[in-house]
Order: sequence, then structure tokens, then C-alpha cells
Amino acid sequence: MRVTASPSSALPAARPWNSTDIARPFPLPKQTPTREKDTSKTRRIQEKHSGKKKDFLNSDKELLRSINNPSVDSQGTTRANSPKERDLLNDQVINNNKLWNEENISKNKLERKPISGDKEFVKRLPNAVIIGVKKGGTRALLEILKIHPSIRACNSEVHFFDRDINYERGLSWYRENMPPSYPQDITIEKSPAYFVTDKVPERMYNMSKTVKLLVVVRDPTRRAISDYTQSLSKKPDNYPFEVFAVKDLQKGIINVSWMKLKIGLYAKYLQKWLKFFPLSQMHFVSGEQLIYNPAKEIQHVERFLNLKHFITRDNFVYNKTKGFFCLVGKRPQGQNSSKPRCMGKSKGRKHPKVRQAVIELLNSYFRPHNLRFYEMVNRDFGWS
Ligand code: A3P
Repeated sequence: MRVTASPSSALPAARPWNSTDIARPFPLPKQTPTREKDTSKTRRIQEKHSGKKKDFLNSDKELLRSINNPSVDSQGTTRANSPKERDLLNDQVINNNKLWNEENISKNKLERKPISGDKEFVKRLPNAVIIGVKKGGTRALLEILKIHPSIRACNSEVHFFDRDINYERGLSWYRENMPPSYPQDITIEKSPAYFVTDKVPERMYNMSKTVKLLVVVRDPTRRAISDYTQSLSKKPDNYPFEVFAVKDLQKGIINVSWMKLKIGLYAKYLQKWLKFFPLSQMHFVSGEQLIYNPAKEIQHVERFLNLKHFITRDNFVYNKTKGFFCLVGKRPQGQNSSKPRCMGKSKGRKHPKVRQAVIELLNSYFRPHNLRFYEMVNRDFGWS
């Protein structure tokens, strides 16, 4: 059994199959915006943006010339010398990826074994991104997806859209960070900061209107404790969780500006993403189900990504010591694929004990936000 925040809110240790914890479908209230509404709104934004882009391209012949004669760094990455040039380079990279991005994402076929020198096996921009949330289970999702033969994943977090220093480097830099893939593969990266960083939705939209977005969500109170636990590993003598989370327990005042709590306001952040992407392009993974029933949860993800069903229960082995499922399946070259591999030590850490009164206060703070989020995504995640 994992040690948890408090006895009454304790998560049971991850159990083997036949879990009954599957989230219930949530009845959609009449006022909830329909997908059609979202789509037309997004289309309006798309039309607005594409018009701008054309005008810009036609008017700046000087820059177009420089694109035809770009400066290239030692790794062969095209470098932009000015923000305008960067925009044009980005357009060029987008166009190069367009065919693959829009037409092949749904034509997932058999895995192709990379042949050295194969011109089709090249680096491409991602057509799916795990955008959040921090401590939701994003690493587990990525590692599980990597079992699928059609997934080409970037192992480290790229932080392209949320960090200006990286964004300034342009899309060709971003693409360089991706693993090579075939046109019918899905290239994926995960950077959980994307979901909560204001400028990211528009930046991502400017890269691709069709990119598929995955968000792993988890009970926001527990997510905050997990986030705090992570910070403890860097600063073990830090103040207790309660000191940061609560201003006045007696009066029931919580510290709403603490980022570890703010991240849990999923509905608020989702609203920002919906200005650029329709809900149908986003998929929300239950962080809890990913722990207890990963094979089932991942089937929804496979369907969303138009992948052939491939990952099954046989790919998961429950590890009693770790208290989590570990993975069996495709792995990096040269390693034994039959030995189960667990997530690293920083995943599935023991949480410190948090006072029950504080947990309840946080739960009641998050409750209305959670309900709004369930309505928006049409799924009840069953949080307290
Ligand atoms: P805890 O360490 O608080 O338990 P992220 O990868 O986004 O940082 O999320 C980390 C969380 O992934 C862990 O939080 C853990 O609960 C969850 N997780 C989901 N599946 C897991 C698995 N198979 N092994 C380890 N952790 C897993």
C-alpha cells in the first residue's frame, strides 16, 4: 500500500485488472457549448489567421529571398536572423510537414522498420502533444504510448512553446528535437507546462491547426500535494504543505495564488485552449485510471489518435514494491524487452501527510471548478 496524504483520503494502491473505478459518463447540460459551436468559433479564428499570413507572405519579397538562401548552422538546422524571417521559416517548415500532418494522422498502418538512409524516415514536427498537466501522469502516458509501434516519442521535455528562448529558435529547431519518423507514424512530445502557459495555445495553433492534444488530469488536491512532494526532493527542509496552501484554516481561506493550486483549475485553462482548438481535437486522460487500469485508459487514447489497437493488459505487470504497474513491450534498441520496466524514482513518490481539514478545504475549493470541467469535457472524473 502506498503511503498517502491522509488516511481518509487515501488512494488505494494500484490494483490489478477488473477495477470498478471507471469514470462515469457525465450528462451534458443544455447550456454546454456544443462541438459545432466550438468548431465554427475555431474556424473563424483560423480564417482570420490564414488571411493575415497570406498578406504577409505576399508583401515581403525581400524576406522570401532570404528564406531561399537561409543560413544553416553546424547541425544543418536553418537559422532565422530576425523575427520576421523566423515566421517565414516557420511557414516553410509547416508547409513541409503539412501533407504528412493532415493526411497521414488517420492512416495509421503497420510499423515500418527504419532502414538506414531511408529518405522517408526523417524528423517531423509532432502531430500529437501531451500538454499537461504537471504531476498528472504525463511521463507514464508517454512511456505507455511508446510501446505502440507507430508512436515516435521525444524522450525529454522540449519546452518549445512555453519558453521564449526556445520559441525564438523557430520551428526548424523544434523539429530537430524530434525523433525521425515515417509519414504514417505519430510523433509526440510532452511538456506539461504547455497547458497552463497563456501564450502556448496560439503558438501551437500557428504550428498546426490539426495537432492532437492530450491532457492527463488528476484530482487537483492530490496533484498539488504531488507537486509539493516533488519540490521537497529539491528542498527537503521546506515548510509543510499546509503553510503554502492555506492562509487561515479557521476562516477557510486558502492561498489561491499558489501556483501548485492554480494549476488545478483545469476549466480555466481549458477555456483558453478552446479559443484555438475544438474540443474534438483534445483528449483528457484520467490520471487515476492511468494508475489503476492503464490498458483500458490507453485504449481511449489509441482511438483518439486513430492508432490501431495494440497496447493490452499483457503490456502491464503490477509491481508490489512500487505500488504501480510497470511496462513490458517495445523498448530502446539493445535492451531486453521481456523484463518489466517501472517509471523512475521520481514517479510514484510517497506523499507527506497533510492535515485532513486542509484536504477537505481544498476539495471544497476545487469542487465547483471540477464540476465545470466535467461539463466542458463531458466526463466525470470522480474527484472528491
Ligand atoms: P506521484 O509521484 O505523486 O505518485 P508526471 O509524470 O506528470 O510528473 O506524473 C507523476 C505521477 O504519475 C505520479 O505522481 C504517479 O502517481 C503517476 N503515475 C501514473 N502511472 C504511473 C506508473 N505506472 N508508475 C509510476 N507513477 C505513475
